[in-house]
Parts: sequence; C-alpha cells; structure tokens
Amino acid sequence: MSRILKVGLAGCGSVSQRGLIPHLSQPDLRDRIEFRAVMDPVEGRAKATAERYHIPLWYEDYDEMLEKADLDVVVIASPIGFHFEQGMKAVQAGKHVHFNKTMTTTKAEADELIAAAKAKGVKLVASPGQMQRAIHQEAKRLLQEGVIGQLYCAITGRSWIGHEYESFREGEDIISNVNPLWYYQKRAGGGPMYDMVVYSMHTLTGILGPAKRVMGMSGIGLPERRFKDQRVVVDMDDNTHLLIEFDKGVFAHVYGTFASGPRRPELQFSGSSGSMDLGREGIKVYGDPALFGVRQAVLEAPASAFGNLPYVTGVHVNLPESHVFSDIMHLVDCVLNDKEPVVSAEHARHVIEIFEAGYRSAQTGQVQEITTTF
Ligand SMILES: NC(=O)c1ccc[n+]([C@@H]2O[C@H](COP(=O)([O-])OP(=O)(O)OC[C@H]3O[C@@H](n4cnc5c(N)ncnc54)[C@H](O)[C@@H]3O)[C@@H](O)[C@H]2O)c1
Repeated sequence: MSRILKVGLAGCGSVSQRGLIPHLSQPDLRDRIEFRAVMDPVEGRAKATAERYHIPLWYEDYDEMLEKADLDVVVIASPIGFHFEQGMKAVQAGKHVHFNKTMTTTKAEADELIAAAKAKGVKLVASPGQMQRAIHQEAKRLLQEGVIGQLYCAITGRSWIGHEYESFREGEDIISNVNPLWYYQKRAGGGPMYDMVVYSMHTLTGILGPAKRVMGMSGIGLPERRFKDQRVVVDMDDNTHLLIEFDKGVFAHVYGTFASGPRRPELQFSGSSGSMDLGREGIKVYGDPALFGVRQAVLEAPASAFGNLPYVTGVHVNLPESHVFSDIMHLVDCVLNDKEPVVSAEHARHVIEIFEAGYRSAQTGQVQEITTTF
C-alpha cells in the first residue's frame, strides 16, 4: 500500500489563504497527502480556516499541533523570525519541514537546523525553488555556452511598496484582516531581503554558482508604517543594496526595497559581446550594437516556452503561489521516494549567509567573505 503523508501548516495569513491552503486542499493530492491540521495564534483564525476548507484539526498553539496532530510534514508559513525555532521543534519531533521562505535569518541557525535534520533523518525544503524553473536552467546553459561572451556583471533585485497594500488584507473578517506590520520589524524577520530578494538571490546563485564576497549599504526609508488603524515604528532596513563578487571576477548588484519598483527585467546580465534579460517575458539576448549592428534581440525565448513547474498540473496551474505548492510537493516526493531535495537547505543557507553578511558589511563598512557553498 502506498504511503500518505499527514501534513500540518503553521501560519494562516496571506500566502496560506491565497495559495497554500487552496492548493493543499485539492482532492487530486489525496493519493499522497492528508491535509490534517492548521495552526495560527490569532484567536479564531485557525478555526475559521479549518471550517472553510474542511480541515479536521486546528490549533492556536504550535507546540500543541506538533504534539497532538500526528504529522509527518510541517509547512511553515509564519512570520520569518519564527521559522528557525518552529523548524527546529518540528525536526526534533521527527517531522519533515517545508519553509515558506526564508528558512532562518542567520547562517548559524541554518547550520544548526541542517545538522539537526541530518541527525534525525528528516528532510528540509526551503522555498523558493527557483532553479526548478526550466527558464532559469536555460539561462544558465546559455551563459555557460558564452552567448554574451565573457560574463562581466549582473543586476537583480525586488522592489514593492509593501505588504500593507496587498488587496487580500482589505477585509475585516478574521481570515483576511491579517496585520502585516511584522515585515518592518527586525525581531520578526522583516525587511525586503528575506521576504522578496530571496527569489532573486536563489536565481542569481543558482545560475552563477556560490558567491565569494559581499559589500552592503542599507537603511530605512519610511520611519513609520501603517495598516488600517495600527502603526509601527520601522526598525528593520527597508532599503538594502549589495555588491557581490562571484568566481572569475563577475560582480552583481542586488537591491531590495519596500518602495516602488524600477521597471526593468528581473535579472540582467552583461558580457563582453552582448547582454541578456531574464524575466516574466522570457529570455532575450542582445548582441552588442558595435559588433552586431542595431540593438535588437538575437535570441528570444518567451516564458511560455518553458512550461510549468514540476507537480503544477490541472487545477494547480491557475491557483496563486503555485511555485510554493511545487516546492511542498517536491518535499512530499522526496520523502515518499527517499530522494534528496534539489531545492536544498544548503542553497537556502548560502543565500541567508549572503544577506547576513550584507547587513554586517553595511554596519561595519567592511567587505565580508562568504564561507558556505551548495
Ligand atoms: N504575502 C505574500 O505575498 C507571500 C508570498 C509568498 C511567500 N510569503 C512568505 O510567507 C510567510 C508568511 O507571509 P504572509 O505574507 O502570509 O504573512 P501574514 O502576515 O499575512 O501572515 C502570517 C500569519 O502568521 C500568523 N502568526 C503569527 N505568529 C505566529 C506563530 N508564532 N506561529 C504561527 N503563525 C503565526 C499570523 O497570525 C498570520 O496569520 C513569510 O515567510 C513570507 O515571506 C509571503
């Protein structure tokens, strides 16, 4: 008889309500998972969620869920500052864990978590699994093939005015009235790097390989943020810029701001004979005008040419946050078929070390060496 994994989820906020819970509740998954429990500390939110999606168990206390719900897999979608502690508790209880970005906020925590998971024989998958996307693998192949000559540098990053502007949060009911002001607080793991730039950094390092050194500049733009009638004094940087050195003298500028985004492709590469844009529209390679005449794309591959992410089929194609669903099902697949995750905790740790080192560089004014690899 094939095994069915019992899954519980911590944190019933925006990403869970819009994406994770609708995905995990679909009947087509019942041959692999039983979505058994949800947990959220805000009174009434887990109960209302369980009732809406017909989930048998709900809790307002994380430890109680771990103790009583008889889970195989825990999906963590709480504020980022809780991820390390909740991940460690789940690992110690013998559960496999999916982190809805980012796994921890320090390298030391990531080291501890990876060692504990190994000792307990459980698996970790930390979103986002950017290199599961065929378009990113193709970009890596083209660069290695020398399509733009010798690679010089890259620019990437994420900017967005802030989670208080998510339309999901406009309602007044217990499920959608979710306060996002933790995104501006240090102790809660706030800031644009751990939340948004984690995508750019997984893609960049997935394509270029591990980083060697980092310099940072970082600060706070708006000193106060508001959500409905509540306000918070911002104590986490919301305007961070890193300069990163890779192998063979390749440099990247990586930015993260809770401010309006510049209109540019998600990732741009510049080489000795051309440049490459990578983003929602696909891949565009431009030969340098001095070598190839007018600036026009010499290679165009629309994003639609690269198909869906693994496990994203049927109803899941049109549900939001399907990339996170894909990562969760990757963990399920690895547990059921005893495979090592490709979306690895080691890659997540490398990205976390770059962020931590970048903040340290911004404070000290010193270049920081990166020690981890993946
Ligand atoms: N909002 C998005 O667009 C989005 C998209 C993808 C991933 N994410 C990631 O998902 C995670 C959650 O983000 P979000 O935007 O859904 O946050 P959110 O603020 O909307 O929701 C967080 C939920 O966690 C609950 N919570 C607070 N303390 C908790 C605890 N100790 N244990 C369990 N739950 C707790 C809150 O009550 C709230 O319901 C973050 O890691 C974020 O980076 C967010």
